[in-house]
Amino acid sequence: MVSEKFPRGSWTPEMVEKGGYPHFMLKEIHEQPKALKNALSLRPEVCQQASRILNDSDQVYITGAGTSNHAGLAGRYMFTKLSAIKTQNLVSSEFTELTGKLLDESNVVLAISQSGETSETINAVKHAKRQGAKVVSLTNVLESTISKLSDYTIYTYAGPEYGLAATKTFLVQVACLSLLSLDLSLMRGSLGSSEVGKLRRELMKTPLIVDKTVKRQDRVVRDIAYQYANKSSFLFLGRGISTSTAMEGALKLKETAYVHAEAYPAGESRHGSIAIIEPGFPVIIIAPPDENYEKLIKNLKEIKAYQAKIISVV
Ligand code: F6R
Repeated sequence: MVSEKFPRGSWTPEMVEKGGYPHFMLKEIHEQPKALKNALSLRPEVCQQASRILNDSDQVYITGAGTSNHAGLAGRYMFTKLSAIKTQNLVSSEFTELTGKLLDESNVVLAISQSGETSETINAVKHAKRQGAKVVSLTNVLESTISKLSDYTIYTYAGPEYGLAATKTFLVQVACLSLLSLDLSLMRGSLGSSEVGKLRRELMKTPLIVDKTVKRQDRVVRDIAYQYANKSSFLFLGRGISTSTAMEGALKLKETAYVHAEAYPAGESRHGSIAIIEPGFPVIIIAPPDENYEKLIKNLKEIKAYQAKIISVV
């Protein structure tokens, strides 16, 4: 079963052209508010049906590759913390090795793939099916191989993504996972209806916030990029769910600027990795005002003592 809003056949020529932007990636970054709005208008029954399948399981495994794996990590934080459901996320190329014969009909595999055609994720899905697990997929392409193999599919409504590096599709994957997590939290009673309602209202405001951020920060980000263009290595740090943002940031830098970048949870830095920090080393910190903020600031102070250059996303 597949939810449908913008099936591939309905994409217009305007949707696939660069729309005045020098390249698709920039165009797609600016399309994020719209893509997010579409994703958040997912029919409630689609999300509820997927949540029911997840809720009926003993253990959820989220799998995907690259950016989709990073969205999966964000999903794992939400499913575990908000929805109180046992969740693991495993990169799809290692999925078979890491699950072996341990999967069964009591498990659900949530496969995330923008294209629905990534071979490692297809193989993970096939392995899960062979073991008797149910498969729910989150994809942007209707009739893709992964959606055909799945018991249930959620379509992310992002429109075509032509940029080599995934941008808007990461955002909509995380948005759909947030919706799923809220439904699951209600079903499992881990959050009350007023709390879920409040979070849902906050979530619905995000397209506007993303719009403001993209428009206002364009120039600031460009200035920072010029300032650090000669650096050969970057560190991206976050805590909790922001770890997935940090990992996604490092991947974007590697694949677009061909610069080395590494990401891990900020609390890990003092366990050896801090040794590589030298004066002027650029460290990007993802620091939303959440429950991890104080701890993150502590980590940040340790790094600053090594005279790193801190670029914070606050
Ligand atoms: C990164 C990127 C890749 C994809 C990965 C999985 O910007 O585009 O890492 O995320 O190849 O692709 P999908 O999501 O199509 O399975």
